Amino acid sequence: MVATQFEPRLKVIAIDGPSASGKGTVAAQVAAILARDYLDSGALYRLTALYACQQNIGWKNEHEIAALAYRLPVVFRANSILLNNVDVTTAIRTENIGMGASAIAALPAVRAALLQRQRDFLTSRGLVADGRDMASVVFPQAELKVFLTASAQIRAQRRALQLGMAPDGSDYQKILADIEKRDQADRSRTVAPLKPANDAKILDTSSLSIQESVEKVLDWYRKI
Ligand code: DC
Repeated sequence: MVATQFEPRLKVIAIDGPSASGKGTVAAQVAAILARDYLDSGALYRLTALYACQQNIGWKNEHEIAALAYRLPVVFRANSILLNNVDVTTAIRTENIGMGASAIAALPAVRAALLQRQRDFLTSRGLVADGRDMASVVFPQAELKVFLTASAQIRAQRRALQLGMAPDGSDYQKILADIEKRDQADRSRTVAPLKPANDAKILDTSSLSIQESVEKVLDWYRKI
């Protein structure tokens, strides 16, 4: 969906992109520099997947999972996330929960359940939001829309280095295969598929550092 010129712009910078593209790091840094709040929307899908797992609800049970998503007992703190008063900051980052998040993210009722919750993160301070459909669905009136990407190989290398693995060994091959599988799932789903919004600026970070990527977003922001 493209906002028309008659709709008021929201104080939101939307940063979408595929998994391991670095959009989370870039979005968090842009938010800190501009003194805005930061929404990691993927965390909400991951939390929902983890919560379903804890309740022994399979990834395909759309309506049961949507009901969980409506009443996620989550608290976001500066450096941690609590689910039912338990710190799940690292538990939601496993590959298994990532695959679960991708599976439940394809369910329309789950996306609908999380929609308002995401919009509620916007206050007068303004927001930098990252995810897959921040620009197209959640904040179509965002003042700036960025689609941040990098080749699957570069993303797999970055993820391997992050995890302390060699960027070319068998672990790398596994990470690359997982990233390609998740890209395929996120791009091919019928509801809110991963793709740049028509009015998004494309930022390919394959040969950029985090700092250079942050600078580029800030540069676009200053020119709005
Ligand atoms: O960004 P991430 O890897 O933490 O996201 C986990 C999964 O959640 C990802 O596979 C797709 C889904 N997701 C989504 O569909 N829409 C969003 N706005 C954010 C994440």
